[in-house]
Amino acid sequence: MRYDNRTRYNNIAKEMKKLGELSLLGEKGWIVNMNEKEQAVREMLKKHGQEQLLACYTKMDKNKQEKLLDEILTIDFPQIEKLYGKSIQKEVISSASIEPISYIEKDKIEQEEKQKLLETGEKLIKEGKYAVVTMAGGQGTRLGHNGPKGTYDLGLESHKSIFEILCDTLKEAQRQYGVYVPWYIMTSRQNHTETVDFFEKHSYFGYPKQDVFFFMQGELPVVNEKGKILLNTEGLVNQAADGHGGIFVSMRKNGVIYDMKARGIQWAFIGGVDNVLAKMVDPILVGLCMEKKVLAGGKSVVKACPEERVGVFCRRNGRPSVVEYTEISKEMSEEREENGELKYGESHILCNIFHIDAIEEISKDKLPYHSAHKKIEYMDSQGNIVKPTEPNAYKYEAFLFDAFESLEDMAIMRVKREEEFAPVKNATGVDSPETARKLYKAFHGME
Ligand code: UTP
Repeated sequence: MRYDNRTRYNNIAKEMKKLGELSLLGEKGWIVNMNEKEQAVREMLKKHGQEQLLACYTKMDKNKQEKLLDEILTIDFPQIEKLYGKSIQKEVISSASIEPISYIEKDKIEQEEKQKLLETGEKLIKEGKYAVVTMAGGQGTRLGHNGPKGTYDLGLESHKSIFEILCDTLKEAQRQYGVYVPWYIMTSRQNHTETVDFFEKHSYFGYPKQDVFFFMQGELPVVNEKGKILLNTEGLVNQAADGHGGIFVSMRKNGVIYDMKARGIQWAFIGGVDNVLAKMVDPILVGLCMEKKVLAGGKSVVKACPEERVGVFCRRNGRPSVVEYTEISKEMSEEREENGELKYGESHILCNIFHIDAIEEISKDKLPYHSAHKKIEYMDSQGNIVKPTEPNAYKYEAFLFDAFESLEDMAIMRVKREEEFAPVKNATGVDSPETARKLYKAFHGME
């Protein structure tokens, strides 16, 4: 079937007409030409008070004009209006519904039990039923590296990039279990090509190319403090990746779930790109989830101090969840158990595994979006590029851990920070390349 741009607009237009959005359809039932399309877009922008999106339109060449109109046609304005409305109200979270969650400490599992878990997990991995998904669609603004975060050279003597360091763990798994674990990498529109090119340039670090898959995550428009959608520096719609929680929908839309099922994958690790000690293939966690008969498992490390800026595992309204450092009250963050440990002390490190059935179920609905107040470059209505020095706009992101609340239970396994958590977040100081490099070298006995 030919599915050209005109068919696409007309489908969108029909949908919008059904929703009572506007009369996008021309007399013959479809949009006939650019003028008609422009007219329809202007009408829609007027209705939603977003006319600024066409402020630079007349200065653009035809191709760009068409691209802009196309982008505008795909915006879900009512959704953006709702999100903006929420972003200007402060979220108030009642502490009454939050309680601690139980966990198992990896190091304290009895030897016999550990062996049993190991065997269960190893069997599944050896049978080729395990996959790894790396979320590498983030912008990495705090690190400030010019390129996808995974391409960052950690500063080891080998000059390995973060992607290569992660790939090493998969190569190690291959040596141990005799299978190449399929590796799915989520990128974003901004970094997709650069990411794929990097893998090509480095011959996939010696991993079989047919076992590495890239897919792009979704995006949402960015709005200023008055709720107006911004233009990007090219004069097109300013869109930003929709957060790591967009992973499930993206996996469905890009056929990843389908591909996993076709390969017989039952469990998948889903983690961030920026932990250079991530143990992405851990049979004990797999065994633990299988034994507990839960559909997801997550690793935690002990929260360093009440003020540490990390989310912690908890139960919210009885369901597994994560309470963010921005949500937790000072009192709750300081509460201690009798043994002196923090009551809410199991930091979520974005190292989780999910059963394929859970991934499929979660992917059917979008997770809620949270707003983030950020410094976002944009083109103003005179066509000037503005580089803000203070946060000027809201972007909307879904968080992966919001998916936990759809599960009745999950297995939380506490692991040692120095063995499994070396994040690369900031350019300097805490969680920077310097601290991650130190932890990496210490773990691998390089010092
Ligand atoms: P972070 O929340 O730390 O964001 O992402 P970031 O983009 O890496 O860095 P900052 O906040 O801009 O400095 C945690 C993990 O989730 C991925 C990131 O790539 C990282 O691996 N992520 C985040 C996505 O894949 N997509 C997103 O939209 C956001």
